[in-house]
Order: sequence, then structure tokens, then C-alpha cells
Amino acid sequence: MKLLWQDPKWFQGCAYPAIRYSDFEMSTNLSAVIHPAKNVTGSLELPGDKSISHRYAMLAAIAEGSTKLENFSTGADCASTLNCLRELGVDWEKSGDTVAIRGRGPKLLQPQNPLDCGNSGSTMRMLSGILAGQEFTSELVGDESLSRRPMARIIHPLEAMGARITARDGRAPLIVSGGNLRAIEYQVPVPSAQVKTALLFAGLYAEGTTIVEEGIRTRDHGELALRAFGAGLQQRGKKTEITGGQRLHSIEARIPADISTAAFFLCAAALFPGSELVIYALLMNPTRTRLLDVLINWGMKITLLMVEEKNGELVGTIDGRGGLLRGGKIAGEDAAALIDEIPVLAAIAPYTSEGVEIRDARELRVKESDRIAAIAFNLRAMGAKVEEGDGGLSIPGNQQLYGAQLSSFGDHRIAMAFAVAALRAAGDSTIDGADTAVISYPAFFETLQKVAQR
Ligand code: S3P
Repeated sequence: MKLLWQDPKWFQGCAYPAIRYSDFEMSTNLSAVIHPAKNVTGSLELPGDKSISHRYAMLAAIAEGSTKLENFSTGADCASTLNCLRELGVDWEKSGDTVAIRGRGPKLLQPQNPLDCGNSGSTMRMLSGILAGQEFTSELVGDESLSRRPMARIIHPLEAMGARITARDGRAPLIVSGGNLRAIEYQVPVPSAQVKTALLFAGLYAEGTTIVEEGIRTRDHGELALRAFGAGLQQRGKKTEITGGQRLHSIEARIPADISTAAFFLCAAALFPGSELVIYALLMNPTRTRLLDVLINWGMKITLLMVEEKNGELVGTIDGRGGLLRGGKIAGEDAAALIDEIPVLAAIAPYTSEGVEIRDARELRVKESDRIAAIAFNLRAMGAKVEEGDGGLSIPGNQQLYGAQLSSFGDHRIAMAFAVAALRAAGDSTIDGADTAVISYPAFFETLQKVAQR
């Protein structure tokens, strides 16, 4: 076993052009050793939001003209999207944190090889929406984790629009034969922004007006991105309507810092009364900021220093100070709004005074890992009491955790969540498979090292 801290490559954050998902598959199971900290202090400029980076890249590919995206996500997931786009005949260049993408207009080129989505559910599901509109057949493949994840949620509505999709028991690999789409009205059965976005992207290619209705409103980056690239969309309550045949234009954008990545550093700061953390140019889209509401409710002091709007997205600078954390309940719409942040909120739950109850979060079982089981396993390994339910967890407060041997379960958010929990444990922890952090933030451990004061 090689220790991540001893490998200088990981301190630099992997240079983006070097990201080829297969490289990481070959070098998996690097471990990180986390020492306890006394607080988390400093200022951070984080890479661009992953959800927005995927959407802007895909829309730039089917727009007219060249799009320039600054502060593009450094995660391997967004590299998977860019690599798939190149297979589809889209030219792009990366220079520093900027990606320039030459749009082809609505028609992409038939790929000669399977499109490798790596670990990225967003790539596979949202790109399927665009591929459903192409008059050719393409194959989407993914790694072992992605090949286990449910795809029927996009297959059924895209087939109803006229695409033909074959899958293995509702899972990847997917073979998509597109073209001649017709508009549908569709109610998304599980809250999923990826599904909503895939259908709106397909709606661009369909005859008529596609209507997508959500029971619980999910992140709206797809809608905002479509508008930024020039598409007209109607919003009626929880229904979003898009009419086919609209052409997109290119944009220039600076992508706001990823709030789901910032969540790890904010929760780390929240653990210590002496922490003071400033995060610049952070994504403040109201469909993504529930984490800030929760941390404030639990007792953290968060001040918004400035806020502005760019391409329909709110961007702000925040100052977070640690305090005594109360804890509380996360259920219903909150569970959907916090789906990517629950791992880290659960990981710090034993340190709260009243504990944390998580309900209605069954979706966590079909993410990059079974996150409910992974959280329960690692918390128990650290000596915590935790009860696991089908759709959630019950974690009592006021618990002392101990440094332990932990696993990422091959899941970036589990690796990062437990690096945070380890900061307040008694003794060092080792996280096996910590290198999976490259999926969303390659420089995670290097940045944590900088802000964790010892
Ligand atoms: C995402 C939506 C969520 C989230 C994922 C990113 C998106 O997935 O968990 O990390 O960019 O739309 P679901 O749509 O499956 O809930």
C-alpha cells in the first residue's frame, strides 16, 4: 500500500491534460493519512462547479461558435465529458483552468469508439439526451461503479421520445440510436436533475414542446445553462417547457466554485470554534445552498461578503466561523437538495450535541457507492454508534471518535467526508482508496493540508 501523502503527484493536484480515467484505474488504492487538527483556517479559491462544467461543455459542443470556459472543473468526471465530446467530433483545448470548445452546431459526428463516461453518471445520463437527438448509433460505457447504476430513469422517457436504447438490465453499457424525436410531457418519478437535464437537452431536438415536471424541485443548472446559450424555456410551477429546433450560441463564462466541494471544507471548519474560512466566488444558486442553511441552523456563523449574478448563476464570497454544532434532522425536500452533501454532514454528525437524523435519502444507495452503508461502516470503524435504515441513518451526538483504518469504497465523496471526520478524531486515520478524490477535486488532500491547522 502506498501512502498518498508520500506521493508528490497528489500534492500538485493532477494536471488536467494528464487526466485519463484509465490511468486512475491502474493506480487506485493509494491511501491518505489524516492527522487531527486544532482548527481549519484560510481562504480558498476552488475549481468550477462540476454540475455546471458538464452542462456548459455539452451545450458548447452543440452551439454555433467557440465557447470559452474559465475555472472549468478539474475533476476526472468533467474530463470524461470532454473526452466523450472529442470522440463526437468536437474540438477543444485546455490552457490552465480554461477550456475553449469549438461548437459543431446541433449535429455531432458518429463516434468510432465507445464513449467512455468513466465514473460519471452526469456524463452518461445527460449526454444520452443529446445522443438521442443524433441520427447515428453510439455506445456509452462506464467503469464498474457506473455500470451498476440505474439508467432506466433516462431510457424510458428518451424511448418515449423516439430514441432506441439497449442496455443490460437497465444499466450500462447503453447503445443509443437517435433521431426523429417527438416532444413528450413527462413527470420525473425520482428527483433527479440529471434526468430533467437529459430530457431538456433531448427536447432541443424534438418536434414540438417537451414538458418536464418535477415532484421535488432539483438543481436548475440545466435550465439556466440552456438560457445562457440562447434557448427559450418556459417555467410554470414545477414544469419546465422547451420547444425543439432552437439553435444555441457560444458563451464566455467563468464557472463559480463548486459548492459541493466547498462543503467538505466548510464542514471541517464547522468542527472547531477557532476556525475561520473564506471561500471566494462560490456558487450560490439557491437550489444548491441548502448546506449553508443547515450549517447556520446547526450553529455555524456564515457571512455572505458579496454576491453577483453571472449567466443566471449567483456567485458570492462567504466567511465561515466554527462554533458548537447542534445537529438536527434532514428529510423530505432537504434530503434531495443535500444529496451530495449528506456524506460529509453524516460524517461530522457524531460531533454535534444533539445528533443527526437522515431520512428519505434512499437515492444515496445508488450513487458512486452505497453511501448509506459506506458512511455507517466508516463511522463504526471510528467507534461511533450509528443506526442504518433503508433510506437514512440515525447518528447520536456527543460522541468521541478514534482514528481508524477507513475505506473510500471507491467513492470520492466518501473519501473526502471521512478525511473531514478524521480531523477531530483522537489519533491518526488512514483512508484507503483516497485517490478517488480525483473524480471531483484532484487537489483535495493538498488543500485540506493547507487549511487544517495543527
Ligand atoms: C447532479 C445531480 C445529482 C447529483 C450529482 C450531480 C447534476 O444526481 O447527485 O452529483 O449535476 O445534475 P441525480 O440527478 O442522480 O440526483
